Amino acid sequence: MTRVLSVASECVPLIKTGGLADVAGALPGALAPLGVEMRTLLPAYPKVRAALGEGPRHELGEVFGGPAALIEGQLGEAVLYALDAPHLFDRPGGPYLDEGGHDFPDNPRRFAALSQVAARLAAEGIGDWHPEVLHVHDWQAGLAPLYLSQMAPKRRVGTLLTIHNIAFQGMAPPSEIGPLGLPEADFGPEGYEFWGQVSALKAGLVWSDRITTVSPTYAEELLTPEFGMGLDGLLTARRDALSGILNGIDTAAWAPPYRTPRGKPRHRARLRHEMGLPEAEGPLCVVISRLSHQKGLDVLLDALPALIDHGGQLALLGSGDPALESAFRQAAEHPNVATRIGYDEALSKRMVAGGDAILVPSRFEPCGLTQLYGLSHGTLPLVARTGGLNDTVIDANPMALQAGAATGLQFHPVTASGLAGAFARLHALWRAPGHWQRMMKNAMALDVGWDVSAQAYATLYRDLISAP
Ligand code: ADP
Ligand code: GLC
Repeated sequence: MTRVLSVASECVPLIKTGGLADVAGALPGALAPLGVEMRTLLPAYPKVRAALGEGPRHELGEVFGGPAALIEGQLGEAVLYALDAPHLFDRPGGPYLDEGGHDFPDNPRRFAALSQVAARLAAEGIGDWHPEVLHVHDWQAGLAPLYLSQMAPKRRVGTLLTIHNIAFQGMAPPSEIGPLGLPEADFGPEGYEFWGQVSALKAGLVWSDRITTVSPTYAEELLTPEFGMGLDGLLTARRDALSGILNGIDTAAWAPPYRTPRGKPRHRARLRHEMGLPEAEGPLCVVISRLSHQKGLDVLLDALPALIDHGGQLALLGSGDPALESAFRQAAEHPNVATRIGYDEALSKRMVAGGDAILVPSRFEPCGLTQLYGLSHGTLPLVARTGGLNDTVIDANPMALQAGAATGLQFHPVTASGLAGAFARLHALWRAPGHWQRMMKNAMALDVGWDVSAQAYATLYRDLISAP
């Protein structure tokens, strides 16, 4: 058995704001059959505490100004540790934001605490369980490999950082160096300093043995100034340590309610009814997304006439940027546009089942999960040609159509006219039912689960352990 401690700030089914939670929640179960025992460390936010109840506790003493302990629980068949530190995690709001939607001012300390405890567990073990690999996710766990390098582990522990999104870098002012217990000497361009600030993500990129991101294309993109967000130079220097491993989805949780494309019309009719959309000749397009600049939904607003003027419809579920929320509410005044602001997993499943196409016009997308849900349901993805969207959708160009391989549409650049052009192609395909049905079949036949990628992680862990 390979022993891996995975450290993340969110994890389904306990707490989720985005795809990171799905990945952290799926990995232990996907890896177990491959001889990897993954245990997960997560902050004990109120929701997590409530879900775990009174599991066994391991006292940790004082951590960053208050008492802390691990509560042991289960994540499916796997062990989960929740870091119970009430002064850091027991408060109303989400994992990162208070009830007013503002970052908690002590976020650098909250997640430095998570990282420091992770390093300690890696160095000392938990009872008689000694991890061989410390796998940390995003900036929230990014300081762990640096903390670990300052400890004297009883045995060697390999470290891996997975970048789910390089846009979030975990910045803190230099006045935090002391309180976070960071080595002053490493506050420089070769270390964890970034534009005069502390960057937890950069620390992870410098101190981890290996780095992955969640798709091969995003791994390449990260080496460019356009996508690297200032860290492209460092990543280029570390390119031998960097690779991309595509996300999968939980195919049991996202099993379509039908086995062939013939099952869709019933669900589409129900969805139209639920969303208050009229019957229509054109395709029903759905969006399920955080409403943020990354996701390119402002571009969708601009290109909307090109969808609905040809008889298409839009149903959107999302929340986030207040300006986008109100713009989509306003767009819904059109009879063929429906908007639901909020977070609703059950509705998201009905939308994926009932939609004809799923739109993901992201400016950048490390992997993206909703296009994978779409594929498995024959809900054809119309996506920007970037990151994991590029790696998971085969564009319906003439060659792919002729070869019978297409599974969706890609477009580029992410501009209103780029997207309008894609809508024109979408409508043409819709009117060529032979092509559309074939694409639905292709999409539904794909393997979008975790099997292949879990193998890739297992191999990487073993490389890390055997590395000199
Ligand atoms: P990101 O992590 O960048 O937000 P992903 O596509 O990787 O993007 O993951 C987003 C996840 O969150 C998906 O599981 C998606 O279905 C879910 N999601 C996003 N917004 C909503 C919403 N408003 N309601 C329900 N689920 C949502
Ligand atoms: C991030 C990315 C998304 C990815 C998810 C899980 O939130 O924005 O593209 O699918 O992490 O890796």
